[in-house]
Amino acid sequence: MTIRITPEEILRQREFSQKVRDIFSAREELPLAHVHTFGCQQNVSDGEKIKGMLSEMGFGFSDSPENTDIVIFNTCAVRENAEDRVFGNLGALKHDKAKNPDMIIAVCGCMVEQEHIVERIKKSFPHVDIVFGTNALHTLPELIYRELNEKKRIFSVPKEGGVIAEGLPISRESVISANVPIMYGCNNFCSYCIVPYVRGRERSREKSEIIKQVKQAVESGAKDIWLLGQNVNSYGKELGTNFAELLRAINSLSGEFRISYMSSHPKDATKELIDAIAECEKVTRHFHLPVQSGSDRVLKLMNRHYTRENYLEIVEYIREKIPDCSLTSDIIVGFPGETYDDFKETLSLVERVKFDSLFTFIFSLRKGTKAEELPDPVTAEEKGKWFRELLALQEKIGTDMYEKYVGQTFRVLCMGEGRTDASLLTGKTPQNVIVDFAGEKELIGSFVNVRIDKALNWALLGTIIR
Ligand code: SAM
Ligand code: SF4
Ligand code: F3S
Repeated sequence: MTIRITPEEILRQREFSQKVRDIFSAREELPLAHVHTFGCQQNVSDGEKIKGMLSEMGFGFSDSPENTDIVIFNTCAVRENAEDRVFGNLGALKHDKAKNPDMIIAVCGCMVEQEHIVERIKKSFPHVDIVFGTNALHTLPELIYRELNEKKRIFSVPKEGGVIAEGLPISRESVISANVPIMYGCNNFCSYCIVPYVRGRERSREKSEIIKQVKQAVESGAKDIWLLGQNVNSYGKELGTNFAELLRAINSLSGEFRISYMSSHPKDATKELIDAIAECEKVTRHFHLPVQSGSDRVLKLMNRHYTRENYLEIVEYIREKIPDCSLTSDIIVGFPGETYDDFKETLSLVERVKFDSLFTFIFSLRKGTKAEELPDPVTAEEKGKWFRELLALQEKIGTDMYEKYVGQTFRVLCMGEGRTDASLLTGKTPQNVIVDFAGEKELIGSFVNVRIDKALNWALLGTIIR
């Protein structure tokens, strides 16, 4: 069940923000917050709302927890190492709290949607003051107010339904890029994945709300719009609309800006959608289409609802319609029961498709998922060997893929200073490929034409053509 938070409730939370502001206004210096977001772009987007609400409460921000009034860890549960990192960081906060007992420590996000994690925090991390789930994000002002007054541990992880809260303040991490969630949750239950359990059922935002947010972002200087959802291709089902319609509507807004999206599920990547993308000139020429495995047997065990052949057909159609597009993907190595023969199918698919780049992960067992029931006889060492084999193959392919851009000129969105060389600028081609080039800092946030001179294996080097 979708719970749409009423404007009255948002107003009530704003009143709590004012009350928190009043408490701190008795002090001379600004209260400080440290917000650490782990995980995917959806979580980054939640982090921007957390910071927006904290700003309204009068907080300034610090890059480290030291000497702050509140620390918030916005967590990710997708793999074990993501959770280990959070626990490591939480442990380290014990010293900060000992030095500064008034500091409020809060943990939110996907991890705390799991009961065993909440139990562990209750028992082993007594210095954590507030735990709040993804459905309680909009109540942060009230939770902080209560904590300041009552000084008791608060656990607020509402389980009934999935929330959509409109009208929260947003403090964007970047002026140029804007994250715009279009839907929350996931219904797919891929057998390895924790996301449907921690983010709840799929629910879409109203098209009018999304368009309003995109317009505001563009008016305030955003040029790189990211539409976010765990499976954007199934946007709008319950609202009688679809992702293609949404893309067309955003594409028709005025201004020079780009539209990207993350993530799309191959099972819902229809020809109609690919046609819409091809027609929308503002939509990036970039498909991130997670394949996970090249073996039909493993894809079935993963509950992905497509075959290797289906995937290859989609890729063929995309390349026929948008020949200059880039293609990236996610792959899991070492799914329970995967054999070396299955893995070779993944290698051969990678060789055949030739992705621009890949996000590769070794399978991580998540409590409560279907994959937990499957026998997993392959050792970690063996999986590590396969993983390195895949990386080596992709490195070779990636370099060849980047070579094809040399000599071509692209309209590049200038994003900032070069990451490895601050005397250069860095930008993104319409394929979302990174290119570094010499230019004046004033160009940051604008579009320039850049000719590609050289391909490195992580980026391109180019020259501005005026
Ligand atoms: N909704 C997106 C989709 O289906 O494409 C992906 C979301 S997930 C946050 C990002 C990636 O993490 C997945 O595509 C998958 O490759 C990887 N992943 C998810 N669960 C995993 C697990 N248990 N172990 C290893 N990798 C995992
Ligand atoms: Fe996880 Fe699959 Fe949903 Fe992606 S589509 S979030 S991998 S269950
Ligand atoms: Fe992690 Fe939650 Fe995203 S589990 S990947 S932060 S949706």
